[in-house]
Formats: sequence, C-alpha cells, structure tokens
Amino acid sequence: MSRDGFGSKIGIIAAAAGSAVGLGNIYRFPCELSGNGGGAFLLVYLLIVLCLGVPVMLSEFVIGRATQKNPIGAFRTLRPRSAWPILGYLGVICAFIIMAFYSTVAGWTLEYIVKAVGNQFHENGVAKDHETIVAEFKAFQQMGWKNVLWQGAFIFLTGFVVFKGVANGIEKYTKILMPLLVLILIVLGVYTLTLDKAGEGLAFLFKPDFSKITGSVLVSALGQAFFSLSMGMGVLITYGSYIKKDDNMVTTSLSVVLADTMVAVLAALVIFPAAYSFGELPPKPGTEVNGMSLIFSTLPMIFNQMEGVGYFLCIIFFVLLAVAALTSTISLLEVIVAYLVEELHLPRRWATVLASVGCMALGVFASLSLKEGSIFTIAGKSFFENLDFISAKVLLPVGALFIVIFVGWIMGKRWFNAELTNDGKLKLSIKGIVYFIIKFIAPLAIAVIFISGLLNP
Ligand code: TRP
Repeated sequence: MSRDGFGSKIGIIAAAAGSAVGLGNIYRFPCELSGNGGGAFLLVYLLIVLCLGVPVMLSEFVIGRATQKNPIGAFRTLRPRSAWPILGYLGVICAFIIMAFYSTVAGWTLEYIVKAVGNQFHENGVAKDHETIVAEFKAFQQMGWKNVLWQGAFIFLTGFVVFKGVANGIEKYTKILMPLLVLILIVLGVYTLTLDKAGEGLAFLFKPDFSKITGSVLVSALGQAFFSLSMGMGVLITYGSYIKKDDNMVTTSLSVVLADTMVAVLAALVIFPAAYSFGELPPKPGTEVNGMSLIFSTLPMIFNQMEGVGYFLCIIFFVLLAVAALTSTISLLEVIVAYLVEELHLPRRWATVLASVGCMALGVFASLSLKEGSIFTIAGKSFFENLDFISAKVLLPVGALFIVIFVGWIMGKRWFNAELTNDGKLKLSIKGIVYFIIKFIAPLAIAVIFISGLLNP
C-alpha cells in the first residue's frame, strides 16, 4: 500500500512538534506545576526531558521508520508471533483515553474564542475583575451540554483534517501558526514580567523547595514529560513511519524536544507571574489551587489589562491555542485511524468516522464529570481526572518503558545504529550514548520513578 509521506524535512519536524505542542504545554503543565510545588517539579521535569526526551523519542521514530507501519503492524513486522504487538494495542487504547479528556479542554478553547470575539471579558466597556472571570469559568463547567457540544465540534474538526490525509492536512498550518504562538507567548511573557508581583511567580518557579520532591511529584513530572512530548503510546512510531530514509532523526527529535520545552517554559513564565499578580496564587487559606481555571482566568485578565490591543491579542491567542490543540488531537486520532485502515482494512473515511464517534462516546463522560455533584466519579475523583491519571501516569510510562526495552534489549545495538545512521550514511558521534541511555538508563529511571510513585502516592 502506498503511504502518505511528509513533503519535506521541516514537514516532519512541524508535524511532530505540532503533536507535542498543545494543551499539554499551555494548560496541563501549569496545572501540574501549581499542584506539585512549582520549582522542584520544574527541575525534575527538565532533568527528565533532558535525559530521556531525545532517546525515548528516537526509539519510537526508529521503530516507525524501519517498518513504515502503524505501531501494531510495526511490532508484528519486527517480532512476528510474539506478545510485542500488545504494546501497539495499548497505544490505540491510550489514544482513545487521551482523546476523551483532551477534547474536553480543547472544546473550552472554542468557547473562549467565542467569548473573546464577543468581548465577554468586559461588561459595559469595563474590564471584568479576576474573581468574576474565575466564577464565569466555573459556571461554564457546570453547563454540561455546552461542554459536550464544543467537544463534539472539536472532535469533528479533528476528524475532518485527519480524513484529508497526513501531508496536506497537518504540515501546512503548523509551519506558520506555531511560530506565531511562540511569538505571542514571548510578548505576553515580557508583559507579565512587569506586573507588580511577578517576582513571587518567578520565585515559585525557580526557587525549588527540595523537600517537596516526593514519589508522586516524580511520577507527575515523568508523566507530564511523556505527555507533553507525545511519547510512550505510538504517536511517534506512526509519525516515524512517515520519515524519509535519508532524514537525520537525531536533529529532528532534538528540534521537537527543544520546541516543546521552550513553549512549556514560556507558558509558565507568562502564567505564574500573572497568577500571583492577580491574586489567584498563592491559594487562599483553606482552599486548594484549581489548576483548571488557571489559564482560562489569568490569560483573559492579562489581555484585559492591555487596553486596546488586548481585545485582538486575546482572540488571536485562543485561536492559536485551539490550533495547537488541533495538531495534537490530529496525532492522537491518526493513531486510531492508521490502525483501523492498515490492520482492519477499513476505508479511511469510515475509519475516521468510527474513531471520532468512539472518542466522543468516551469523551462525553469526561466533560459531564466536571459538573459539581456529577455521578461520573471513580474513587472520589472525576472521570476526567481518572482518564488523565491512567494515561499520563500509568499507560505512557509503561508504554515508554517497554518501547526502550524493545529497542535496547530485543532489537539491539547493531539494528539501532544502522537505522539511526541511515545504514552508515550519517556520522553520529552521539549514537553510543543515546543507545546506552535507551538500554540501561531509561528503563531503570522509568521503573524506579514509577515504583516510587506507587509506594508514595
Ligand atoms: N503532547 C500533546 C500536548 O502536549 C498531547 C498529545 C498528543 C499526546 N499526542 C499525544 C500525549 C500522544 C501523549 C501521547 O498537548
């Protein structure tokens, strides 16, 4: 079967970075930072990204490009009649789970575009205050049907792009819009640094309190790193299968990891100085930080303060956030669709419809579970939080663990080096250290962190 490929080198970087950069960076990263003590979490997160990011990403790329298949087909090709394809199935299941709660938040970005266009962060020409904006976010969460509607719209949008195919679907938009998002974040970052309590926000981020590092903080950082880089469930195996045989995968993965980390850190630099200045942080005595409302209340406030241009910047920002989320949901849906098309031989159109409907069916419960008093709770946590937990803190680390074990111990050094260097055509002096990390460091680190999280929840 002929496969769609990416048009150029920048194409695959754009697509993989498009998958990586999303709500994980701008919404989930600040949530995790605020819930895990700030600086200590940031430090652990950066260490994990630095040490494991590129090697784990390369493991996925190599599997995908060597086989030119979806994750299940890839493991089946490399190790026929073994249990390894189960990893591929896990990836498909994980894609469903992530899609289900991710699309809830993605739907919120659409609601906030509408709010921004309608100038709803102002009343009678006067900017609303922070408390009102937070209250309105909470009120919106209580409107179950509205959340579900936006979620459906977002999944439909994703299905539409996925149906149109890989190369012309993803590449074109990402290349222009993502740099624009970075630019706006820089502008906002410079602005929020001038706010009166910016210093407190910076201290929260950059003065790590080491006593805060517990097993659960470690797992949160590990999960966030994999989540943000889209690793551990086969998205990058699928994308790797579209990488050309003469591309340099090391520079590709380095670019993706750098871009993703830059956006996450920039987002934190915008949000925390602002959250401290507007009084959202530190949490009021007796209350907990609500990470969920963090970006949906601080960002409108920032734009409110920038009279004039703020109105337009606010619209542009939420549009770009929605696009960033879209390029991520595309990658998730693509994993499910590629499986249905290549393994079950469904026509692409029906595969897309089926995958979208499946995500929606699960997603409805995620959206409705955030209502106060919702019955969709498990173990005292909303269905939404449970899906987030199972995917980021269980499935992704376990998936990544087996992926590096597969490359390091099953396929081995000669195979890895040949694939990484395009059969010796590239001289990559770092291949030795990368392989060492894949074989020894990564499995050990992931296992230790995972177990420490289990022992110390
Ligand atoms: N990385 C994306 C983000 O940060 C989310 C995402 C897309 C993802 N594809 C994934 C997460 C695959 C884990 C696995 O927003």
